[in-house]
Amino acid sequence: MPVVTFMPSGKMIEVASGTTLFEAATRAGLPVASSCSAENVCGKCNMQIIQGADSLSNQSEYEKKLLQRERHAVTDRISCLTKIEEDCVVTTKYW
Ligand code: FES
Repeated sequence: MPVVTFMPSGKMIEVASGTTLFEAATRAGLPVASSCSAENVCGKCNMQIIQGADSLSNQSEYEKKLLQRERHAVTDRISCLTKIEEDCVVTTKYW
């Protein structure tokens, strides 16, 4: 099963393939910014991928539009839309 590491704490959690970054962070006890409760609408749950960008589901056109609308970097991921397939290391600006 994939292992997700959250920086800067270094907290790690093993998750089933297909788990979203949002779900993984929440299960690890980390807060995730959201005003839509992970309903894929608000675009506030973005994360930066430190390692393993290729270990995640591909960005959809919808996700790209959300990133653009919220003025996030194009390399960020909307965590409630992003599924984990292999090990990765992620962070956000508020952890
Ligand atoms: S929590 Fe709102 S888009 Fe992810």
